[in-house]
Amino acid sequence: MCGITGYVGSRQTDDVLIEGLCRLEYRGYDSCGIALAQKNGKLYLNRVSGRVQLLKNQVKERPPQHGMAGIGHTRWATHGAPSEENAHPHTDCTGELVVVHNGIIENYPGLKENLIDSGHSFRSETDTETIVHLIEAELKKICGGSFRKKAPAETLERNFFEAFRRAVSKLEGSFAVSAIWSRCPELIISARMHSPLVIGKGKDGNFSASDVSAFLKYTKQVYFAEDGDIAVIKKDSILFYDFKGNTLERKLTEIEWDAAMAEKGGYDHFMLKEIHEQPAAVENTLRGRTMPMDGDFVIRELGIPSYFIKSLEQIQFVACGTANHAALVGCRIFGSFGIPCFAEFASEFSDRAKMLNGKTLVIAISQSGETLDTIIAVREARAAGAKILAVTNTVGSTLTRESDYTLYTRCGPEIGVASTKAFLGQLASLYILAGHFAVIRGTLDDSQAEEYAAELVKLPRHIEKILADEKNIRKTAETFSKSEHFLFISRRFNYPIALEGALKIKEISYVHAEGYAAGEMKHGPIAIIYPGMPVIAIAVSSENLELVNGNMAESKARGADVLAIVDEKSAAIAKAAHYIKIPYVPEIFSPMLTVIPLQMFAYYIALSKGCDIDKPRNLAKSVTVR
Ligand code: M6R
Repeated sequence: MCGITGYVGSRQTDDVLIEGLCRLEYRGYDSCGIALAQKNGKLYLNRVSGRVQLLKNQVKERPPQHGMAGIGHTRWATHGAPSEENAHPHTDCTGELVVVHNGIIENYPGLKENLIDSGHSFRSETDTETIVHLIEAELKKICGGSFRKKAPAETLERNFFEAFRRAVSKLEGSFAVSAIWSRCPELIISARMHSPLVIGKGKDGNFSASDVSAFLKYTKQVYFAEDGDIAVIKKDSILFYDFKGNTLERKLTEIEWDAAMAEKGGYDHFMLKEIHEQPAAVENTLRGRTMPMDGDFVIRELGIPSYFIKSLEQIQFVACGTANHAALVGCRIFGSFGIPCFAEFASEFSDRAKMLNGKTLVIAISQSGETLDTIIAVREARAAGAKILAVTNTVGSTLTRESDYTLYTRCGPEIGVASTKAFLGQLASLYILAGHFAVIRGTLDDSQAEEYAAELVKLPRHIEKILADEKNIRKTAETFSKSEHFLFISRRFNYPIALEGALKIKEISYVHAEGYAAGEMKHGPIAIIYPGMPVIAIAVSSENLELVNGNMAESKARGADVLAIVDEKSAAIAKAAHYIKIPYVPEIFSPMLTVIPLQMFAYYIALSKGCDIDKPRNLAKSVTVR
């Protein structure tokens, strides 16, 4: 997730862009940059590796620039490490065209190869640079080879629009992209496909950005662009077109948010926003990596040789906290394909590390990629000869530098300390990896792989359905808001989700909660049940459903107030006082769904207690101590 911004109008363009980037820094801040069209057909271009303040210092001596179009970007790296070369805006070969982009261009490798073959030279490792060279190539075609010829402003603007339109029509993936051309100094063109884009209508000019926080200081009048929209933005006009060039009507909306609400997309907390971002986050993780039609899993960037995958004797997961719960689910997914797996807290790993060898793949899972316990575990595994695969959300993090292979979860920055969307991204990554390994090892045949991938790509829609049940989940949570102890139970794939449900409550509500393997209840924990104690059971369809049902009955018999997370098929069987119903999916995929109501449940319990949800006491987002 990156932030893009754009402005054309009578204010100082630098000031408006820098101000916008400061507001968008929550979307990512490893590097940033701006570009402004000068009236003399040249560009100002500034990029820095680091925060917006550095950029501000670089441009502060600049002469006034009123009326010029400008675009800006604050980056959260996905393709290419955080560096000045990879920072946006990116320019074409002529240095006259510039773009900023948020999203992932899936088909960029092929497009880039063709562009290089036809003489374009690339200066960054980004997928974004492909867009600007594509516009350049189209512009050259339209202008008959060279676009340097003099022409009336109207013709130049028409050509620029047409080149931009043709270029974005060739892109696959997700993008909110804005471009300027130094020959049309008062024009910004933006487009949207699966990434947010809002266009602001102001008194002293117009705006384009990833979200309204970038320009809220200047206007509350916005158009929310839709997928497949192109916006042509000038000082006094905003026009919308589709990718075929037909004009579109878009409704102007007056928003009522203040700046803090705008950053949170109108939600009260980042945690709630991030819970709601999960369908998009999972889509981003899966994008371009599942090929349901040909029964294969293509993970282009992974690079683990097939012979190594085939000869692997074991997989060892290491992680902490929520990431460890993803690891426990991972063990069960890989295990179901006959691959021996172990999971260990990174902080408890030392003794196991000594037992590893070159036939072990260690999968280290970490949102931040900076958790010291996980990094030390990786060093110990490496010393024993194991290969390391990092599953992380953070490009260029320490973990990626110390690993042999990396799979990025691509969820965008997670601000709330309680991990939600990053967890879903970790799970989705593990499903892809397990599918990929199972196909290579021959434990998943073509038609099974096709079925597996088809189930995976349906998950974002199922998650949306659960999120739509928020009111009911909130009401249920509020009935438990005075409880001082919670017990979460389940079996097999959902046992780690019971642990995660309990962790979420602990960290944001400061209430005691335990996660237990339901089958363990009779071996001790059942003794703690007192009349009215909340027992939350994940009771979705599986061959173990009757057993979970039995555990719920045992709890109920001792006075527990049982809440069951059920699916459309298990609802008739599971017996509880309260229910939250989710869509049915095969058990292996159910952790992707069962965790969603538990995240919301924890959120609403914390809310009713008035806790500081995004910054819980005693916790830090990234734990870089042992
Ligand atoms: O950045 P990491 O994924 O390595 O962080 C690991 C844990 O510190 C983290 O998951 C922590 O447990 C979260 N606050 C849970 O919500």
